[in-house]
Amino acid sequence: MKRLVLTLGVVLGLTSTGAFAADGDAKAAESKNSMCIGCHGIPGYKASFPVVYSVPMISGQNAKYVENALQAYKKGERSHPTMRAIALTLSDQDMADLAVYYANNK
Ligand code: HEC
Repeated sequence: MKRLVLTLGVVLGLTSTGAFAADGDAKAAESKNSMCIGCHGIPGYKASFPVVYSVPMISGQNAKYVENALQAYKKGERSHPTMRAIALTLSDQDMADLAVYYANNK
């Protein structure tokens, strides 16, 4: 019995070490950023509807900053309508992937 409890403890210990924590994967983001580059990939590009907005350059931006910004749009803490609509379609993993992708893409 004692042995069984010990074994269980070891197994649980191993699986809870967080090997699958939501770290960003830049490679996975390559298929997700097609909907971002239209606006964020063009230097000086301005989104023209409904008002003229300058689109911020996010390449080379700190990964945590990008991820936080996307979360803020999703939660409504940031209110830009287009970015909100886009952020609502992204999962936490998508955001983490995209954040690392843009951080590495200087
Ligand atoms: C239709 C154009 C458009 C598309 C598509 C778009 N964005 Fe944006 N994005 C903007 C604009 C405009 C802003 C500035 C909004 C504001 O003032 O809050 C912005 C802001 C941001 C910010 C905050 C930047 C900062 O400096 O605070 C991040 C991060 C971001 N976008 C990431 C993304 C990602 C990732 C995607 C793709 C999943 C994406 N955007 C798609 C237009 C777009």
